[in-house]
Amino acid sequence: MRIDVLTLFPDMFTSPLNYSILKRAQESGLVEIVLSNIRDFAIGRYRQVDDKPYGGGPGMVMMCQPVFECYEHLLNESSQPGRTILLTPQGRPFDQNLAMELSREQRLILIAGRYEGFDERIRTGLGAEQISIGDYVLSGGELPAMVMIDAVVRLLEGALGDEDSAEDDSFREGLLEYPQYTRPEVYRGMTVPEILLSGDHARIAAWRKARSIERTKRWRPDLME
Ligand code: ADE
Repeated sequence: MRIDVLTLFPDMFTSPLNYSILKRAQESGLVEIVLSNIRDFAIGRYRQVDDKPYGGGPGMVMMCQPVFECYEHLLNESSQPGRTILLTPQGRPFDQNLAMELSREQRLILIAGRYEGFDERIRTGLGAEQISIGDYVLSGGELPAMVMIDAVVRLLEGALGDEDSAEDDSFREGLLEYPQYTRPEVYRGMTVPEILLSGDHARIAAWRKARSIERTKRWRPDLME
C-alpha cells in the first residue's frame, strides 16, 4: 500500500511514524508513506497557501492552487489508483469498519487541512471523500491523518507480530475486547480469574465472549444494536 499525505507540517509525522508497528511496516515494504509539503507547491514571493474567505468572516481558507499542484505532482509520480480523502470534522465518521475497508486499498491520498477549512473546489475538483475522526474540532488534519494511518496499517497482513492479534481487537465483531491478564497470578491480593488458568480452551473462549458482551452492554450500549 502507498499512503500519500499532503500537509503544511510534514515534520509532525516523523515521530509517530517511526515507532513500533508503523516503523516495521514501512521497513518491510508493507506500506510506503510519502509526506508532501503543500507549501512547496505554492507560488509567489510569500508562497501563500491560504487566503481570506469570499463573503467575509473570520479565519483563513486553504487555497486551491498549491493543493491541486501538489496532488497532480503525486499522480505523476505514481499512477497507482486510490482513494482521495480530506480530513475534516464534516466527514464520514471514522471507525473500525472504515479502517478495514481502507486497508484493502492500494493507495490512500490524505489531505490534511489547517485554518478554517478548504476552498470547496478542492473537495469537488479532486473528487475527494471526507472523513472525520470524531465530533470535536482539532487545529488541523495532521493528527486525524496519523490516527487513520495507524488504524489502517496495523490491519495490513503481516503488520502485526502475532498474525492473530487483530482478530480479537475491540470492535472486531462490534464488541469491546474481553479483559486480559498476564503474570503474576496474584498481584497485591488481586487474582486472575480461575478459568484462564484451566487450560480448557473452549470454556475460555466462551468466558471471553460473555465478558465482551457484558462490557459492551455496560460501557458502550450504543454498540449493542
Ligand atoms: N480536522 C479538524 N478536526 C478534525 C476531525 N475531528 N476529524 C478530521 N479532521 C479534522
